[in-house]
Amino acid sequence: MRIITTPAELNEYSKEQKKQGKSIGLVPTMGYLHDGHKSLIEKSSAQNDITIVSVFVNPTQFGENEDLDTYPRDLEHDKIVAKDGGANVIFHPTPSDMYPENYGTYVSVDSDITKILCGKSRPTHFMGVTTIVNKLFNISLADRAYFGQKDAQQLAVIMRMVADLNMNIKIIPCPIVREKDGLAMSSRNTYLSASERQEALVLSRSLRQAEDEIKNGETNIEKIKSDIRRTISASNIADIEYIEAYTFPGLMPCSEKLSGQTLFALAIRFGSTRLIDNIIVKP
Ligand code: PAJ
Repeated sequence: MRIITTPAELNEYSKEQKKQGKSIGLVPTMGYLHDGHKSLIEKSSAQNDITIVSVFVNPTQFGENEDLDTYPRDLEHDKIVAKDGGANVIFHPTPSDMYPENYGTYVSVDSDITKILCGKSRPTHFMGVTTIVNKLFNISLADRAYFGQKDAQQLAVIMRMVADLNMNIKIIPCPIVREKDGLAMSSRNTYLSASERQEALVLSRSLRQAEDEIKNGETNIEKIKSDIRRTISASNIADIEYIEAYTFPGLMPCSEKLSGQTLFALAIRFGSTRLIDNIIVKP
Protein backbone atom coordinates (compact mmCIF):
# COMPACT_ATOMS: atom_id res chain seq x y z
CA MET A 1 0.00 0.00 0.00
CA ARG A 2 1.32 3.42 -0.98
CA ILE A 3 1.17 6.57 1.09
CA ILE A 4 0.71 9.63 -1.11
CA THR A 5 0.82 13.10 0.41
CA THR A 6 0.42 15.64 -2.38
CA PRO A 7 -2.57 16.27 -4.68
CA ALA A 8 -0.26 16.36 -7.73
CA GLU A 9 1.23 12.96 -6.95
CA LEU A 10 -2.19 11.36 -6.38
CA ASN A 11 -3.51 12.87 -9.60
CA GLU A 12 -0.52 11.44 -11.55
CA TYR A 13 -1.02 8.04 -9.92
CA SER A 14 -4.73 8.01 -10.80
CA LYS A 15 -4.11 9.11 -14.39
CA GLU A 16 -1.69 6.21 -14.77
CA GLN A 17 -4.28 3.74 -13.38
CA LYS A 18 -6.95 5.09 -15.74
CA LYS A 19 -4.55 4.76 -18.67
CA GLN A 20 -4.26 1.08 -17.79
CA GLY A 21 -8.06 0.81 -17.85
CA LYS A 22 -8.40 0.34 -14.10
CA SER A 23 -11.43 1.45 -12.10
CA ILE A 24 -10.88 3.61 -8.99
CA GLY A 25 -12.89 3.64 -5.76
CA LEU A 26 -12.46 6.50 -3.28
CA VAL A 27 -13.20 6.30 0.46
CA PRO A 28 -13.00 9.80 1.97
CA THR A 29 -12.31 9.79 5.73
CA MET A 30 -10.93 11.96 8.50
CA GLY A 31 -8.91 9.03 9.83
CA TYR A 32 -8.91 7.31 13.24
CA LEU A 33 -10.30 4.43 11.24
CA HIS A 34 -12.65 1.86 12.77
CA ASP A 35 -14.69 -1.05 11.42
CA GLY A 36 -17.30 1.36 10.01
CA HIS A 37 -14.65 2.94 7.77
CA LYS A 38 -13.24 -0.52 7.05
CA SER A 39 -16.61 -1.72 5.71
CA LEU A 40 -16.49 1.10 3.13
CA ILE A 41 -12.90 0.22 2.18
CA GLU A 42 -13.83 -3.46 1.79
CA LYS A 43 -16.80 -2.60 -0.40
CA SER A 44 -14.65 -0.38 -2.58
CA SER A 45 -11.97 -3.07 -2.89
CA ALA A 46 -14.61 -5.58 -3.96
CA GLN A 47 -16.01 -3.25 -6.64
CA ASN A 48 -12.88 -1.51 -8.03
CA ASP A 49 -9.39 -2.39 -9.25
CA ILE A 50 -7.86 0.38 -7.11
CA THR A 51 -9.05 1.76 -3.76
CA ILE A 52 -7.85 5.12 -2.46
CA VAL A 53 -8.55 6.01 1.17
CA SER A 54 -8.15 9.68 2.00
CA VAL A 55 -7.22 10.54 5.58
CA PHE A 56 -7.61 14.27 6.11
CA VAL A 57 -9.10 16.16 9.04
CA ASN A 58 -10.75 18.83 6.94
CA PRO A 59 -10.57 22.23 8.71
CA THR A 60 -13.29 23.88 6.59
CA GLN A 61 -16.03 21.61 7.92
CA PHE A 62 -15.37 22.45 11.58
CA GLY A 63 -17.09 25.43 13.21
CA GLU A 64 -15.15 27.88 15.35
CA ASN A 65 -15.97 26.22 18.66
CA GLU A 66 -15.73 22.68 17.41
CA ASP A 67 -13.14 19.94 17.94
CA LEU A 68 -10.71 20.49 15.02
CA ASP A 69 -7.65 20.63 17.30
CA THR A 70 -8.64 17.70 19.49
CA TYR A 71 -10.04 15.46 16.73
CA PRO A 72 -8.37 12.04 17.28
CA ARG A 73 -5.55 11.09 14.92
CA ASP A 74 -3.53 7.87 14.52
CA LEU A 75 -2.06 7.42 11.05
CA GLU A 76 -0.08 4.28 11.95
CA HIS A 77 -3.27 2.49 12.99
CA ASP A 78 -5.10 3.89 9.95
CA LYS A 79 -2.47 2.29 7.70
CA ILE A 80 -3.18 -1.12 9.25
CA VAL A 81 -6.98 -0.81 8.92
CA ALA A 82 -6.79 0.51 5.35
CA LYS A 83 -4.38 -2.26 4.28
CA ASP A 84 -6.54 -4.94 5.94
CA GLY A 85 -9.56 -3.57 4.09
CA GLY A 86 -7.73 -3.92 0.77
CA ALA A 87 -6.74 -0.29 0.09
CA ASN A 88 -4.00 0.39 -2.47
CA VAL A 89 -3.31 3.98 -1.45
CA ILE A 90 -3.70 6.24 1.57
CA PHE A 91 -3.89 9.88 0.55
CA HIS A 92 -2.77 11.99 3.51
CA PRO A 93 -2.23 15.63 2.52
CA THR A 94 -1.49 18.55 4.85
CA PRO A 95 -4.06 21.36 5.34
CA SER A 96 -1.86 23.73 3.31
CA ASP A 97 -1.66 21.21 0.44
CA MET A 98 -5.45 21.25 0.25
CA TYR A 99 -5.99 24.93 1.13
CA PRO A 100 -2.96 26.97 0.05
CA GLU A 101 -2.69 30.60 1.13
CA ASN A 102 -4.64 32.08 -1.79
CA TYR A 103 -7.45 29.52 -1.55
CA GLY A 104 -10.88 31.00 -2.31
CA THR A 105 -13.36 28.56 -3.86
CA TYR A 106 -16.17 26.80 -2.00
CA VAL A 107 -18.87 24.43 -3.21
CA SER A 108 -22.16 24.80 -1.42
CA VAL A 109 -25.49 22.99 -1.84
CA ASP A 110 -27.76 25.99 -1.53
CA SER A 111 -30.96 24.29 -0.43
CA ASP A 112 -32.93 23.57 2.73
CA ILE A 113 -31.24 20.18 2.92
CA THR A 114 -28.08 21.81 4.31
CA LYS A 115 -30.04 24.01 6.76
CA ILE A 116 -32.06 21.34 8.60
CA LEU A 117 -30.86 18.64 11.06
CA CYS A 118 -27.08 19.11 11.67
CA GLY A 119 -27.08 22.22 9.43
CA LYS A 120 -29.01 24.13 12.11
CA SER A 121 -26.27 23.95 14.73
CA ARG A 122 -23.43 23.65 12.18
CA PRO A 123 -24.28 26.29 9.54
CA THR A 124 -21.01 26.11 7.57
CA HIS A 125 -20.34 22.39 8.03
CA PHE A 126 -21.79 21.04 4.80
CA MET A 127 -20.08 23.67 2.67
CA GLY A 128 -16.78 22.42 4.09
CA VAL A 129 -17.77 18.82 3.36
CA THR A 130 -18.92 19.42 -0.24
CA THR A 131 -15.82 21.52 -0.94
CA ILE A 132 -13.32 18.90 0.25
CA VAL A 133 -15.25 16.00 -1.28
CA ASN A 134 -15.29 17.82 -4.61
CA LYS A 135 -11.55 18.39 -4.43
CA LEU A 136 -10.97 14.72 -3.57
CA PHE A 137 -13.15 13.60 -6.49
CA ASN A 138 -11.18 15.84 -8.87
CA ILE A 139 -7.77 14.78 -7.60
CA SER A 140 -8.49 11.03 -7.41
CA LEU A 141 -10.41 10.67 -10.72
CA ALA A 142 -12.52 8.07 -8.89
CA ASP A 143 -15.30 6.19 -10.67
CA ARG A 144 -17.10 5.43 -7.40
CA ALA A 145 -17.06 7.01 -3.93
CA TYR A 146 -18.22 5.33 -0.73
CA PHE A 147 -20.16 7.06 2.06
CA GLY A 148 -21.72 5.71 5.25
CA GLN A 149 -25.38 6.03 6.14
CA LYS A 150 -24.07 6.91 9.63
CA ASP A 151 -23.90 10.47 8.28
CA ALA A 152 -27.18 10.24 6.39
CA GLN A 153 -27.54 13.98 5.81
CA GLN A 154 -23.96 14.18 4.49
CA LEU A 155 -24.76 11.30 2.12
CA ALA A 156 -27.93 13.05 0.90
CA VAL A 157 -26.11 16.37 0.43
CA ILE A 158 -23.32 14.71 -1.57
CA MET A 159 -25.85 12.83 -3.72
CA ARG A 160 -27.56 16.16 -4.41
CA MET A 161 -24.25 17.87 -5.29
CA VAL A 162 -23.33 15.08 -7.72
CA ALA A 163 -26.76 15.29 -9.38
CA ASP A 164 -26.89 19.10 -9.49
CA LEU A 165 -23.40 19.45 -10.95
CA ASN A 166 -23.67 16.43 -13.32
CA MET A 167 -20.56 14.99 -11.72
CA ASN A 168 -19.18 11.89 -13.34
CA ILE A 169 -18.91 9.68 -10.26
CA LYS A 170 -21.18 7.08 -8.67
CA ILE A 171 -22.02 7.47 -4.98
CA ILE A 172 -22.28 4.15 -3.14
CA PRO A 173 -24.15 4.29 0.20
CA CYS A 174 -23.02 1.85 2.91
CA PRO A 175 -24.96 0.66 6.00
CA ILE A 176 -24.14 1.76 9.58
CA VAL A 177 -21.68 -0.49 11.42
CA ARG A 178 -22.35 -0.77 15.15
CA GLU A 179 -20.52 -2.02 18.23
CA LYS A 180 -21.90 -5.29 19.65
CA ASP A 181 -23.98 -3.33 22.16
CA GLY A 182 -25.56 -1.20 19.42
CA LEU A 183 -23.56 2.04 19.65
CA ALA A 184 -22.90 3.31 16.11
CA MET A 185 -19.14 3.34 15.52
CA SER A 186 -17.63 6.83 15.39
CA SER A 187 -14.16 8.30 15.80
CA ARG A 188 -15.77 10.69 18.31
CA ASN A 189 -16.89 7.83 20.61
CA THR A 190 -13.39 8.04 22.09
CA TYR A 191 -14.43 11.33 23.78
CA LEU A 192 -17.04 9.52 25.92
CA SER A 193 -16.33 8.59 29.55
CA ALA A 194 -17.26 5.01 30.52
CA SER A 195 -20.53 6.15 32.08
CA GLU A 196 -21.41 8.46 29.16
CA ARG A 197 -20.73 5.60 26.75
CA GLN A 198 -23.14 3.38 28.70
CA GLU A 199 -25.83 6.08 28.66
CA ALA A 200 -25.25 6.66 24.93
CA LEU A 201 -26.79 3.24 24.24
CA VAL A 202 -30.20 4.97 24.46
CA LEU A 203 -29.64 6.24 20.91
CA SER A 204 -29.54 2.84 19.21
CA ARG A 205 -32.09 1.41 21.67
CA SER A 206 -34.63 4.12 20.85
CA LEU A 207 -34.12 3.61 17.12
CA ARG A 208 -34.41 -0.18 17.40
CA GLN A 209 -37.70 0.29 19.27
CA ALA A 210 -38.91 2.65 16.55
CA GLU A 211 -38.03 0.09 13.90
CA ASP A 212 -40.01 -2.59 15.78
CA GLU A 213 -42.94 -0.22 16.20
CA ILE A 214 -42.95 0.47 12.45
CA LYS A 215 -42.69 -3.25 11.64
CA ASN A 216 -45.76 -3.74 13.85
CA GLY A 217 -47.70 -1.27 11.72
CA GLU A 218 -47.24 2.14 13.40
CA THR A 219 -47.33 4.92 10.79
CA ASN A 220 -47.91 8.04 12.91
CA ILE A 221 -44.64 9.97 12.64
CA GLU A 222 -45.29 12.21 15.68
CA LYS A 223 -46.01 9.13 17.79
CA ILE A 224 -42.81 7.41 16.60
CA LYS A 225 -40.75 10.54 17.34
CA SER A 226 -42.28 11.02 20.78
CA ASP A 227 -41.58 7.37 21.66
CA ILE A 228 -37.93 7.89 20.63
CA ARG A 229 -37.84 11.05 22.76
CA ARG A 230 -39.26 9.19 25.78
CA THR A 231 -36.61 6.44 25.56
CA ILE A 232 -33.78 8.96 25.21
CA SER A 233 -35.08 11.13 28.04
CA ALA A 234 -34.76 8.12 30.35
CA SER A 235 -31.06 9.00 30.43
CA ASN A 236 -30.77 12.10 32.58
CA ILE A 237 -27.49 13.18 30.98
CA ALA A 238 -28.77 12.95 27.38
CA ASP A 239 -29.20 16.48 26.02
CA ILE A 240 -31.41 16.28 22.93
CA GLU A 241 -30.42 18.56 20.01
CA TYR A 242 -32.91 17.07 17.56
CA ILE A 243 -35.12 14.06 16.87
CA GLU A 244 -36.47 14.50 13.34
CA ALA A 245 -37.98 12.65 10.42
CA TYR A 246 -37.43 13.50 6.74
CA THR A 247 -37.84 11.71 3.43
CA PHE A 248 -34.65 10.03 2.25
CA PRO A 249 -32.64 10.82 0.21
CA GLY A 250 -34.61 13.96 -0.74
CA LEU A 251 -34.68 15.30 2.86
CA MET A 252 -38.14 16.80 2.37
CA PRO A 253 -40.48 17.30 5.34
CA CYS A 254 -42.63 14.21 6.01
CA SER A 255 -46.39 14.13 5.97
CA GLU A 256 -48.11 12.99 9.19
CA LYS A 257 -48.24 9.39 8.08
CA LEU A 258 -45.20 7.32 7.24
CA SER A 259 -44.98 6.72 3.50
CA GLY A 260 -41.96 5.96 1.33
CA GLN A 261 -38.37 5.81 2.52
CA THR A 262 -38.03 7.85 5.72
CA LEU A 263 -35.03 8.95 7.78
CA PHE A 264 -35.38 9.17 11.56
CA ALA A 265 -32.31 11.07 12.72
CA LEU A 266 -31.01 12.05 16.16
CA ALA A 267 -28.33 14.36 17.51
CA ILE A 268 -27.80 14.00 21.25
CA ARG A 269 -25.13 15.48 23.50
CA PHE A 270 -23.49 13.63 26.39
CA GLY A 271 -21.40 16.18 28.24
CA SER A 272 -19.37 17.93 25.55
CA THR A 273 -19.69 15.04 23.07
CA ARG A 274 -22.28 15.27 20.32
CA LEU A 275 -23.43 11.95 18.86
CA ILE A 276 -25.61 11.29 15.82
CA ASP A 277 -27.48 8.16 14.81
CA ASN A 278 -30.35 7.26 12.49
CA ILE A 279 -32.47 4.63 10.80
CA ILE A 280 -33.93 4.66 7.30
CA VAL A 281 -37.26 2.82 7.21
CA LYS A 282 -40.22 2.12 4.98
CA PRO A 283 -43.81 1.54 6.18
P1 PAJ B 1 -15.48 10.41 8.82
O1 PAJ B 1 -16.33 10.82 9.97
O2 PAJ B 1 -14.10 9.92 9.07
O3 PAJ B 1 -16.27 9.30 8.03
C1 PAJ B 1 -15.78 8.80 6.81
C2 PAJ B 1 -16.86 7.92 6.18
O4 PAJ B 1 -17.09 6.79 7.02
C3 PAJ B 1 -18.22 8.65 6.04
O5 PAJ B 1 -18.80 8.32 4.80
C4 PAJ B 1 -19.01 8.10 7.20
O6 PAJ B 1 -20.41 8.11 7.00
C5 PAJ B 1 -18.47 6.68 7.27
N1 PAJ B 1 -18.72 6.10 8.59
C6 PAJ B 1 -18.35 6.61 9.80
N2 PAJ B 1 -18.81 5.82 10.80
C7 PAJ B 1 -19.48 4.80 10.21
C8 PAJ B 1 -20.19 3.66 10.71
N3 PAJ B 1 -20.31 3.42 12.01
N4 PAJ B 1 -20.75 2.82 9.81
C9 PAJ B 1 -20.65 3.07 8.47
N5 PAJ B 1 -20.00 4.12 7.95
C10 PAJ B 1 -19.42 4.97 8.80
O7 PAJ B 1 -17.53 11.83 7.17
C11 PAJ B 1 -16.39 12.28 7.18
O8 PAJ B 1 -15.33 11.64 7.77
C12 PAJ B 1 -16.03 13.60 6.51
O9 PAJ B 1 -17.11 14.47 6.59
C13 PAJ B 1 -15.57 13.44 5.04
C14 PAJ B 1 -16.69 12.85 4.15
C15 PAJ B 1 -14.33 12.54 4.95
C16 PAJ B 1 -15.20 14.82 4.45
O10 PAJ B 1 -14.19 15.41 5.18
